[in-house]
Amino acid sequence: MDLKAYLEAKRALVEKALGVYIPSPNGPAALLGEAMRYSLLAGGKRIRPILHLASVEACGGDPEKCLGFACALEMIHTYSLIHDDLPAMDNDELRRGKPTNHVVFGEAMALLAGDGLLTEAFRVIAQEALEKGLEPLGVLRATLELALAAGAHGMVGGQAADILSEGKVVDAQTLAFIHNKKTGALIRASVRTGGILAGVSWDLLEGLGKYGEALGLAFQIRDDLLNEEGDPAKLGKAIKTDQARGKATYPGLFGVEESRERLESLVGQAVEALQRFGPEAEALREIALYVARRDH
Ligand code: IPE
Ligand code: IPE
Ligand code: MG
Ligand code: MG
Repeated sequence: MDLKAYLEAKRALVEKALGVYIPSPNGPAALLGEAMRYSLLAGGKRIRPILHLASVEACGGDPEKCLGFACALEMIHTYSLIHDDLPAMDNDELRRGKPTNHVVFGEAMALLAGDGLLTEAFRVIAQEALEKGLEPLGVLRATLELALAAGAHGMVGGQAADILSEGKVVDAQTLAFIHNKKTGALIRASVRTGGILAGVSWDLLEGLGKYGEALGLAFQIRDDLLNEEGDPAKLGKAIKTDQARGKATYPGLFGVEESRERLESLVGQAVEALQRFGPEAEALREIALYVARRDH
């Protein structure tokens, strides 16, 4: 398959829907809406919503009905980036090729833009489920899965561990915890919720979970490697910041070579986990290979 064309088509679909779900603001809080749209519509690979839609397709579901859920994943991801870049966290000034949210709108608006996007995500899920008549139990299960992956048991917990580990020597177990939670959890949930909404069987859902888990960790190892040796112009964000801040990373603990090997092995595991799926899971397989060699 032509993965580039596939990613581009799905990206355009998501892009358009995001603009509709989060409309242009007016009134006294207009600046908040502007700040939300600034980061949400600043580009980005849209890999989480694309994974969700690809998973729905792999499970024989209707991707059109899941567009709201896909966009909710991107809203939560974007909120996490806005907060991740704040001076109190990673203190970054460039994201998606543009000045970070707090640089443009100030820290208070950046905090609130993140809060707004996180909450709007769950609003969009509920509203779309009602308007498109989705099967309520499936939506409930997928929403629970998303909340667990995004909150203190998942991404937020990983972000806390990341911050608490700054400047410390961490062991491999702690490093894996950080990466699996701060990045892996939402990626795994993006894939699994697609299966859940499509009503897939329990054993296939297990396969999707294994795929998502391996891919999520691989994705963050690639992020670590790109921070070490990537091209800032392509990445749209600064490099060499992890080392400067004493972040716990794979290249930091294992070196670049071993990190690359671990990344390759995880991608192999991800593809392997889809064994029981047929050709309709081709996009998921190709995305796994793409994650290992992505340059941004
Ligand atoms: C960056 O995520 C932060 C991580 C969780 C590794 P992406 O690499 O998906 O960033 P965008 O969405 O394309 O900007
Ligand atoms: C990002 O981790 C994880 C989340 C935002 C949840 P990083 O801090 O390593 O990602 P970048 O490198 O800033 O995109
Ligand atoms: Mg961070
Ligand atoms: Mg960061």
